[in-house]
Amino acid sequence: MKHTLGASLRHDSALSHATGQARFLDDVAEPAGMLHAALVPAPVAHGRIAALHTAAAAAWPGVMAVIRPEDIPGENDIAPIGSGEAMLAEGVVEFAAQPLAIVVARTRDEALAAAAAVTADITPLPPILSIAQALLDPHWLVGPHTMAQGDLAAAMAAAPHRLSGRMELGGQEHFYLEGQIALAIPGEDGDMLVHSSTQHPTEGQHVIAHVLGEPYSRVQVQCRRMGGAFGGKESNASWIAAAAAVAARIAGRPDKLRLPRKLDMAVTGKRHPFLYQWEVGFDGDGRLLALDARLTADGGHSLDMSGGVVMRALTHSLNAYHVAALRVVCGAVKTNHVSNTAFRGFGGPQGAMLMDDVLGRVAHALGAEMEAVRALNFAGGQNPAETPYGQALEGDLVRRVHAEARADAGWDARRAEIAAFNATHPTLRRGLGCFVSAFGISFGIPHLNQAGALVHVYTDGSIRLNHGGTEMGQGLFIKIAQVVAGVFSVPIDSIGITATSTEQVPNTSATAASTGSDLNGWAAHNAAETIRDRMAGVAAAHFGCPVGAICFEDGEVLGVSGNQRLTFAELAKMAWKARVSLSATGFYATPELEWDMAAVRGKPFFYFSYGAAVAEVVIDTLTGEHRVLRAHLVQDCGRSLNPAIDRGQIEGAFVQGMGWLTSEELWWDAQGRLRTIGPSTYKIPGSRDVPPIFEARLLESAPNRADSIFRSKAVGEPPLLLAAAVWNALRDAAGRPHLDCPVTPERLLMA
Ligand code: MTE
Ligand code: HPA
Ligand code: MOS
Repeated sequence: MKHTLGASLRHDSALSHATGQARFLDDVAEPAGMLHAALVPAPVAHGRIAALHTAAAAAWPGVMAVIRPEDIPGENDIAPIGSGEAMLAEGVVEFAAQPLAIVVARTRDEALAAAAAVTADITPLPPILSIAQALLDPHWLVGPHTMAQGDLAAAMAAAPHRLSGRMELGGQEHFYLEGQIALAIPGEDGDMLVHSSTQHPTEGQHVIAHVLGEPYSRVQVQCRRMGGAFGGKESNASWIAAAAAVAARIAGRPDKLRLPRKLDMAVTGKRHPFLYQWEVGFDGDGRLLALDARLTADGGHSLDMSGGVVMRALTHSLNAYHVAALRVVCGAVKTNHVSNTAFRGFGGPQGAMLMDDVLGRVAHALGAEMEAVRALNFAGGQNPAETPYGQALEGDLVRRVHAEARADAGWDARRAEIAAFNATHPTLRRGLGCFVSAFGISFGIPHLNQAGALVHVYTDGSIRLNHGGTEMGQGLFIKIAQVVAGVFSVPIDSIGITATSTEQVPNTSATAASTGSDLNGWAAHNAAETIRDRMAGVAAAHFGCPVGAICFEDGEVLGVSGNQRLTFAELAKMAWKARVSLSATGFYATPELEWDMAAVRGKPFFYFSYGAAVAEVVIDTLTGEHRVLRAHLVQDCGRSLNPAIDRGQIEGAFVQGMGWLTSEELWWDAQGRLRTIGPSTYKIPGSRDVPPIFEARLLESAPNRADSIFRSKAVGEPPLLLAAAVWNALRDAAGRPHLDCPVTPERLLMA
C-alpha cells in the first residue's frame, strides 16, 4: 500500500495491551502437571561456601527436587560471551542474592517456602562495594582500553587554562513491568521447548543447551512479546530460562520460573555505574585543547556484556565533540555487586556524559554561557568531523538538532524569564539545560550485525511473517510488518505477525543496540522480495508481458495494459498452481563495518542518530526537590517507518533517562545487600513526573543513507541520552557545575 510505509500505524497490540487481552508469558495456558521453580539466593555478598543444607527443603510439602550445582546435567555455566560464569554458586559467593540452588515444587508458594528453608555455611570474605574501593587494587573485568589522539602532554602543558574533575554516576534497575519468567516443557528425545521473556532467544537456546548438555538442535526458545526489557532481558533472560530448563529436565515435567519482584531486582544485572576522573586544558573562549580522562565502570562480579558496554562508553565519550589532543581510558572493575548488564544505551549514555560534565565546568570557570562553549567544540564545521576512533560524524546534523531544539524551546526568552523569576523568588530557583547526542547504530561487535526472516504467502493472499527480532513494546513487529506490506503493496492486515522462535529463524542476534528494525527489516524485506519476484514471474507469464513491467500496487498486480490485473490473492493461488514456492527466507548483514578493539579504531557504526533536548526545571532550595517544567526534544529518525511509534520511543526513553539521572538510586547496605528492591524504595518516574510541557518531535527532511531500510533510522536507545538536559538544567538552577547522579533531593539539597 502506498500509505503503509512511513504511516503512523498503531502498535499491533495497542488494543490488546490496553484491554488486557495481550498474552504475556504468565498468561499462557499452563501444561498439565506443570511445576514451579524457585531460586535460593545467597545471604551475603562475598564468602566461601563450606556447606549447603538442602534436606529441610527437600522434605518440604510438595517439593519434587532441590537442585544443587553438582546436579546440573551439563555445564554450570551461563556466560553470554566466553565461559566461566556459574548459574549456581560453586565454592564462593560473589554477590548477595547469587543463586545457590533451585527448588522445584507443585505450587509456587511451596517452592518459595522451601527455597527459604535452604541454609548455607558461608565463611565471610570482605566484599568490594564501590568503584573507588575496587580501584585501590583493581581486578579488571575489561580493559582498561585507551582511545587517544594528538600530543596530549604538549597540548595540556600549552593550554592557557586547566581544570580537573571527578563525577559519580549511578546505575539503574530496568523495572520492566513483566518480571523475568520462563516456562520449560520437556519433550521427547531430550527436546526442550522454553517459552521465555527474552530479547535473545538464540542465546537462551545456547545457554539452555550448555546447562542441559544437549546440542542446540534439541532446544527451542520462543517469545511472543515481553512486558518491557530495556536490556535487562538480553543476557539475564538466558540464565532464567536455563534454570527453568534444568528444573524441568530433573523433575521430568514442565515447570515455570517466575521471580518475585524483590528477588528479580536483587539477582539481575543493572546499568553500569561509572566514575569519571578527568583533566582538561582549554583556552579563554572555552575551546577544549587537551583532555585526559579515565572512565571506570562497575562491572559487578562477572563479565556478562561489560566488554561491549565499555567499548560503547569509550566510543561515545567524545559524543558530538572534537578535542585535538586526548586520552580516554575506560575499563570495568570487578566488585561484589550483581553482574551489570545491558541497559538502554549500553554504556553510550555513560560515555556521552563525560563531555557535558567537562563543558559545564569549563563554562562555569570562564563565566561563559554553556551553550556557546558547547557550540565551539562541536565536531564538524570549523573542527574536524572525525571521531578519535576514525569514523566521521555529520557536523551539520549535530548543529541542526542543537539549533532546532533551542528554537523549539524559545531558549533566549526562557533565559530571560528564568532570570526574572530567580531574581524575585526567595527559595525556588529555575534552570535551563540542553543536551546534544550522536549515537552510533550497530552492535559493537561487527559479526552480530546480521538477521534472518521467514515469510510465507498463503493461497488466499494472506502472509505470515517471522523474523529474528523480539517485541518488547518498542513496536518492532508493526514496523517489520509495514516493511513487508510495503514490498507486496498489500494492506497491513494481510500480514500475520508471529512469535519469535529459534525454530523458525536460527542463529539470531539479540534484539538490542536499537538495530531491531534495521536488521530484521532488511531480512524480512529480502524474504518478501524473493517471493514477490517469483510471483512477478508467474504474473508475467499469465499476462504475456515482460517481468519488468509487472507492478504490485494496492493489493493488486498489474501488467502493461489496463485489463491486465489480478488481485494479490488471485496471483498467490495462480503461483501455487504453477508450482512456484511462496515461502522464502531472507538474510541481511550490515555492510562496511570494521572494528579493531585493541587499537580502538575503525568504523563500528553503520550511521549515527542525532538528537537534542532542552529542559527547564525548578528546584526547591529548602527541600532539594525539583520538577521538570518543560522539555523540547528533536530526534533524528531518518525517514521514519512509523512516526507515532518513534515518538513513543522518544518520549519513553527521555522519561526513563530522567529517572536514571534524578530519582532512581540503587542503595546497598554495608554488607553489600541491595536494599532498593521494590517500588517503595526505588523511585521510577510516574505519570506526574512527565514534564507538563513536553514536545518531542522527529527531525524533518533528514533521510538516512540510501542503503538503510527505507532510509529510516533506529530510535530505541538514542533519545534516552537527551535526559541529560535535565541534569544540565539542575546544574544551572543550583548554580553548581558539579552534580553527581542521580540528583536525588538529598544530593541537590547538599549542593
Ligand atoms: N521500548 C519499550 N517499550 N520496551 C523496551 O523494553 N527497550 C529499548 C528500546 N525501546 C525497550 C524499548 C532497548 S534497550 C532497545 S536496544 C530497543 O528498544 C530494542 O528494540 P529495537 O532494536 O527494535 O529498537
Ligand atoms: N548493544 C547491545 N547489546 C550488545 C551490543 C550493543 O552494542 N553489543 C553486544 N551486545
Ligand atoms: Mo538494548 S540495552 O541494546 O537491549
